[in-house]
Amino acid sequence: MFLDNLFNKPGRGEEKPGGTEDSFDNNNKRDEIEDNKNDKEGHKNKDKEEKGEKGKEGKKITRRKLIRNILLTLGGVAGYTFIFEPNWPWIERVQLPIPDLGEGWIGKKIAFVSDIHHSIIVSLDYIRYSLSMINNENPDMIILGGDYVTKERKFADPLPEILGNLRCNLGDEGKLAVMGNHDYWTDINYVSQKIREGGFKVITNQVIPLWMNGDPLYIMGADDQWCGNTDFDHLIRSVPRFPYSPHLLVSHNPDLFRRSKELGIRTMIAGHTHGGQVHLPFMKGIVTPSRYDFYDGFYRDENTLMYITRGLGTAILPVRFLCPPEITIFTLIGA
Ligand SMILES: [Fe+2]
Repeated sequence: MFLDNLFNKPGRGEEKPGGTEDSFDNNNKRDEIEDNKNDKEGHKNKDKEEKGEKGKEGKKITRRKLIRNILLTLGGVAGYTFIFEPNWPWIERVQLPIPDLGEGWIGKKIAFVSDIHHSIIVSLDYIRYSLSMINNENPDMIILGGDYVTKERKFADPLPEILGNLRCNLGDEGKLAVMGNHDYWTDINYVSQKIREGGFKVITNQVIPLWMNGDPLYIMGADDQWCGNTDFDHLIRSVPRFPYSPHLLVSHNPDLFRRSKELGIRTMIAGHTHGGQVHLPFMKGIVTPSRYDFYDGFYRDENTLMYITRGLGTAILPVRFLCPPEITIFTLIGA
């Protein structure tokens, strides 16, 4: 009897054939337990399936988010490169050493603007806004570095008006300009005339002596390296006691640097490269229209120093990245 009871306990005993009442109850309980087990298994499987679905969905969302973030980043960089930075002019304040500079010139300021490139991709509003920053700097002189337009003569038409608004302490005597390759490619005579109408003297192959409190500074105007012909002999002969008089060579193209150094020219400023327009972090640009890989900033070779501005406009592609447009304000110092 004890053994019967023992083996008839639910879940432990074997069902006897034909069964008793006790065994019937036990059977019912066992069925319930089995059902519960099955239910639990069913739930587990359902949970697993649901989790699996959610996992897949999660992966899909993550992938979708990743693609969206990449597109947003690329869109942001493109917007910055095509729209924001090309229209964000920087004033660069630079100390420019000129050997043998007299006291009268020490601390005087020259505003230098190159590569305005008025065109379909460089608007008149942008140029007006940028150049308006020059008057606020109260410069003593203003020098323009060439490439005023791209391709079409009509882009030179507003130059007299926008250049005519520029002011410097030396007055018209202190407004000087050289010409660039794009001015030649457009129409050198037409563009030069518009520069003159804007109150600037075009100084191609000329030396302009300027005086400040009795001290001289000789501004030497080069011709464009690609399209013109710089008469170095004439320029050097026009500077008294060259190279021991304070002088500054203004050239659109920086590739005249090597020749200038050979001839003993000691300070030079240039444009043309636009700084390469696109820089990569921690390095200079990717490509530059310079035979000697000049980009922007200072370059020195022995006694000859050159500064290249990044310029104001863009050409070919309306892009700039980590290479914003520049208006240079030189403060002259002795050397
Ligand atoms: Fe240019």
